[in-house]
Amino acid sequence: MHLRSGFDPLFFPVCVWALGLAGCQSLPTSKPSSEWTPQEARGAAVYQQKCARCHYPTNSHPLHGPGLQAITKVKAMPSGAPPTDERLTAVILHGRGMMPATPVDDPQLQDLLAYLHTL
Ligand code: HEC
Repeated sequence: MHLRSGFDPLFFPVCVWALGLAGCQSLPTSKPSSEWTPQEARGAAVYQQKCARCHYPTNSHPLHGPGLQAITKVKAMPSGAPPTDERLTAVILHGRGMMPATPVDDPQLQDLLAYLHTL
């Protein structure tokens, strides 16, 4: 087979090791609270009130729902949907699966989205 000629037994373990590292999923770190804008700080307060009992903000471990660290920076959310503001808004306002809909007014929603971008 042609493929065999390119197979280097020394390269193979390195490749597996690199894949293992990628599998560790070191997520980008969240913006520290000391650097929040006023809007992000307001969003954090909304989050504390409406989301924190079910979602850890600063890690990806599940509580009642998935941890939301780096939720706007990942390619896909746990459902597979991309983390666009539209999609996040729909999840927040309409709920999803076991997650209840969360009624927030528009300013609260904008603050909350700004905060989610810091995670
Ligand atoms: C009562 C618990 C609960 C509350 C309150 C809650 N969630 Fe969730 N959330 C969940 C559960 C459970 C899921 C997993 C839903 C599923 O995919 O079936 C989830 C999923 C999500 C997801 C991932 C959606 C996806 O497409 O994978 C996001 C983002 C999210 N929640 C954000 C929020 C935000 C922001 C708030 C506050 C406004 C919030 N949640 C409030 C339980 C909750």
